[in-house]
Amino acid sequence: MLDPKHLKPYPITPADLYWEKKDIPKSVTFDDIFYSRQSPLEEVDYVFIQPNRLPDKFSKPAHQNVTIGEFGFGTGLNFLATWALWRKQRKHDGTLHFISFEKHPIPLPDLKKIFEERNLHDDLAQQLVDQYPILEWGSHTLEFTKDNVRLTLIFADVAEGLQLLKPQYPGVIDSWFLDGFAPAKNNSMWTDQVFELLAQHSHANTTLSTFTAAGFVRRGLQRVGFDMKKQAGFGGKREMLYGAMHAPTIPSTAAPWLCLSRSPFIEKARPKKVAIIGGGLAGCATAYQISHSGNHQITLIDAKEVASGASGNPLGMLSPPISGDPSNYQQLYTKGFKASRNFILSDIPELIYKRGCTEIALTSKTQERLERFISAPFNSFDCATDETSLTIHDAFSIYPQSLCHWWLKNANSVRVLENHPITDLKKLADDWLVITPSWQEAFDIIIFCNSYNAADHFSWLKRCTAPVRGQLSVTNQPLTKNINFGHYALPYNGGSLVGASFSRENLSLEVSEQEYWDYMTAYQRVLSATEGSAIEPSTLDEALQHRVSFRCSTLDRMPIVGPVPDIDYFATQYQALHKGYPRSKYYNAQYQDGLYLNIGYGSRGLSLAVLCASYLAELITGKGVSLESHLVNAMHPARFVLAQ
Ligand SMILES: Cc1cc2nc3c(=O)[nH]c(=O)nc-3n(C[C@H](O)[C@H](O)[C@H](O)COP(=O)(O)OP(=O)(O)OC[C@H]3O[C@@H](n4cnc5c(N)ncnc54)[C@H](O)[C@@H]3O)c2cc1C
Ligand SMILES: C[S@@+](CC[C@H](N)C(=O)[O-])C[C@H]1O[C@@H](n2cnc3c(N)ncnc32)[C@H](O)[C@@H]1O
Repeated sequence: MLDPKHLKPYPITPADLYWEKKDIPKSVTFDDIFYSRQSPLEEVDYVFIQPNRLPDKFSKPAHQNVTIGEFGFGTGLNFLATWALWRKQRKHDGTLHFISFEKHPIPLPDLKKIFEERNLHDDLAQQLVDQYPILEWGSHTLEFTKDNVRLTLIFADVAEGLQLLKPQYPGVIDSWFLDGFAPAKNNSMWTDQVFELLAQHSHANTTLSTFTAAGFVRRGLQRVGFDMKKQAGFGGKREMLYGAMHAPTIPSTAAPWLCLSRSPFIEKARPKKVAIIGGGLAGCATAYQISHSGNHQITLIDAKEVASGASGNPLGMLSPPISGDPSNYQQLYTKGFKASRNFILSDIPELIYKRGCTEIALTSKTQERLERFISAPFNSFDCATDETSLTIHDAFSIYPQSLCHWWLKNANSVRVLENHPITDLKKLADDWLVITPSWQEAFDIIIFCNSYNAADHFSWLKRCTAPVRGQLSVTNQPLTKNINFGHYALPYNGGSLVGASFSRENLSLEVSEQEYWDYMTAYQRVLSATEGSAIEPSTLDEALQHRVSFRCSTLDRMPIVGPVPDIDYFATQYQALHKGYPRSKYYNAQYQDGLYLNIGYGSRGLSLAVLCASYLAELITGKGVSLESHLVNAMHPARFVLAQ
């Protein structure tokens, strides 16, 4: 069995197509067609939509969210037909989540050509084209918000892809479309390992259908718990298979201690009251994402004002991490960088201050790191290099404060309470009482986005999080481009913003002259090395502005995002974990009902806010998690409870 820890990104090999007739694309590798030569849409309806009873599932109010899994996205025909049916049929405000695995994605120009040849000019095809991701390994989520449809494309072999989405809580798929090429031409897709993984993602009523009637496919699916039946195939094909899970026989291989609980939004029927504590990048992004995931009553509460903590800096840099090694850190922060960049470019480009960021290598070690990054297979950034520097054109500086305010303004009705420091929480029968000195109110769900102050409420966090002081200064020294040299300098209001210090010892809010000179002298050294000119730095008093605030760092530099573990349960249930008993000996993890964390953004909050907030919204609202499981686990709050 593959272990997701060993899954690493690699370059994707796109589909190699040729055109059998004018309008029939065929795969060279598999020597097979993507869809029926006669009537493709009728085939989708006959082979996938009807046997999975989708018209019924889509229109029943009981089915708020429907999740479909597909093997082989190909041309997206099955997806588009399913979406069109959902649009016509849906009678509630649930979400359709379509998760499709594709090893050889079709390049966008070919996809456009296919749509043109098929005369597919409707708005659904156009929306898919507009959001089609670049062909990179891993999962990509596309949101079609008007119809409450989300498409998660997992570009990887299906066996890897199913591992990447290993069920943190088992059984999220309601219907399967098994649409790989014919087993005789593509046996790697139809293995016992794949059937077992498929079963782990299924629940007691999951349905399934496939165009093939191969005996070993039928037996493989029966072995993992599906009742399988045959019916006449489409368009002259003799037979095809369809069926439903009667009882899952394959236990989940997900670690029980990292299993996530089912969403509280699914279990309680009435609209939910959600409190978000903290109005920085984490809190505002979370309020925005959750408010767009259903009809919830959201209150964001800050001890001071919105964006008055670390997120209140005048300007910040959104740039990817530079490393040649595809560690979890590199994967998460790169993914996060792209999520933020795409969001800002499409929704609020006006907040961008200056594009591009030049990484300067003053030592041979940094130079080596830049070189490893440039040649890393996962590096798909728009970069330019010279002997001592690397410029990433995709990066930019931005106003973090304005971003926070934009999220709140564009959220679906979020109530904001400023100057309300949360001092205590009290568990009531069904919900939680949130308490400040002047006010209290009960909520179903509480999300802690209050950085290192979350440790005031959960003492175990004190051992794995810490405030780290950062100071920066605005000077009148002009600068033409964003530069990063360990510290950074950004053009700002005709001068430059320079910073930041990094201190675990000094926890005062006073401006430090020592820290100022540290980053200013480094800045002057870089200017002399790169531009051949540097003026004497202005003294502390001559600088136009200083600002001190605190990051929340974590022991492993990964954020802490997910449900709050019930630490008494963890202490008793998992105390013998180090003895290596089999996983089946343990019960699934338990959490403090309705409590979540979204903290620990360290020095890269701009890269984490969109990704972490989207993940949390998926988790809490029960949409189905689309983030790769090894990254979910790498951010899981329980990792620190288990380590203690
Ligand atoms: C000097 C400096 C420079 C930085 N530069 C960059 C950069 O260029 N690029 C980048 O990506 N990142 C940068 N960062 C990091 C980034 O600013 C942070 O990661 C990010 O702002 C963290 O956001 P947050 O919402 O978690 O925390 P914060 O913005 O600190 O927000 C936490 C909020 O919680 C509130 N709060 C706390 N306790 C309570 C309570 N009990 N009740 C109610 N409310 C409470 C606080 O008032 C605060 O508003 C920098 C950080 C510093 C310090
Ligand atoms: C018949 S086509 C799917 C057609 C598609 N559902 C559509 O609507 O156009 C089969 C697809 O499976 C993909 N595929 C084949 N083997 C795979 C594997 N091992 N893992 C993931 N995808 C695979 C192929 O690249 C191809 O795109």
